[in-house]
Amino acid sequence: MSQSSIGDAKTGTHFGTSGRMHFVTTGAYHVRVGQGAATRRAQMLNVIAQASHRRGASARDGVIGLGRVAVGVRVLGRVAAGVLAGTAAIAPDAAAQTAVTFSRDVAPIIFERCSSCHRPGEIGPFSLLTYQDVRPRASAIARATRSHAMPPWKPEPGYGDFLGARRLTEAQIDTIQRWIDDGAVEGDPSDLPPVPKFAEGWRLGQPDLVITMAEPYTLPAGGPDVLRNFVIPIPLKQTRYVKGVEFRPGNAGVVHHANMRIDRTATSRLLDQADPAPGFDGLIASGTFPDGHFLGWTPGQLPPLADAMAWRLEPDSDLVVQLHMHPGERPEIVRPSIGFFFTDRPPARTPLMLRLGRQNVDISPGVTN
Ligand code: HEC
Repeated sequence: MSQSSIGDAKTGTHFGTSGRMHFVTTGAYHVRVGQGAATRRAQMLNVIAQASHRRGASARDGVIGLGRVAVGVRVLGRVAAGVLAGTAAIAPDAAAQTAVTFSRDVAPIIFERCSSCHRPGEIGPFSLLTYQDVRPRASAIARATRSHAMPPWKPEPGYGDFLGARRLTEAQIDTIQRWIDDGAVEGDPSDLPPVPKFAEGWRLGQPDLVITMAEPYTLPAGGPDVLRNFVIPIPLKQTRYVKGVEFRPGNAGVVHHANMRIDRTATSRLLDQADPAPGFDGLIASGTFPDGHFLGWTPGQLPPLADAMAWRLEPDSDLVVQLHMHPGERPEIVRPSIGFFFTDRPPARTPLMLRLGRQNVDISPGVTN
């Protein structure tokens, strides 16, 4: 941080850091701090200031008004103070460089960890792509990240590293918290990282085979969640090794998750034919997961292509896609497609699936927990 960046040299601003940040100024600059920061200044800062504000430190829209002040500010830990002086002197914001800002500090976390689900057409109930999206939800975001409810990621840390882990680091959670403490300011929009681009098409590349439900399913409006199984024939004439499967929900707003099984019998087809609408209801589907693989999809999930752990897909198999769907306010068309990626190499490793669970949970009606 340079001297000129926080004040008007003409009036003799000084800035220095030594261990703790410490600066003294009699200069002219205006500072952007938020409402929260303004009210918390007393706790956060040891401000030794003799201020004679012209317009006082009223915080509005995150900008403290201009005033005249001679101020020595000791910033304990992290934050900038703001104060100000002069009349028309506008210098770059001091706080924009020292306080936590959306553009510089928070947006990278949100873009990387949240926007994949929190954007139009995805499962997240609102978008988190801009300051305007994020600011009104700041406290819910702080709460959800602190409690580890968001991003969704079940494994407890410390029991091994998982591919594709979504958990935020403590530093990231702390940054979001500090941003709010500092007034949840936007900061300098030129600090923003590029808004993430999400591939419209297949994220793993062009699949070798794409299958889609022959007929779309119309999810009725309202009502309880729907669990339904859709049977899609896989048109293969010879055995193939599958190194990856990509599921595209087709309507990410209502598809909660999918499980995919392979049925080499006619059982699923017959159940489907017995029901006039596409697919058939129920939690228990015929078919099996292939060779220790769990073929599933939850929002944001994308298992990588894994040559070494490919699995055998036999000709004349059906894919049984079990969807858990949340009805919306209007009827919704649901028509997922599934891309298969093949390899010529037989697998070097075969995974083993171990499911831990219990089926005897008995919760009485009306119990809250
Ligand atoms: C894998 C998809 C996914 C990711 C990634 C994700 N969210 Fe969510 N988020 C959801 C869904 C789905 C809901 C609706 C939750 C529900 O209905 O239970 C939600 C709800 C929320 C809510 C409102 C509910 C609450 O707990 O207060 C907040 C706030 C939120 N998300 C913030 C975030 C933030 C911040 C991040 C990134 C750090 C994030 N989410 C990442 C899917 C996601």
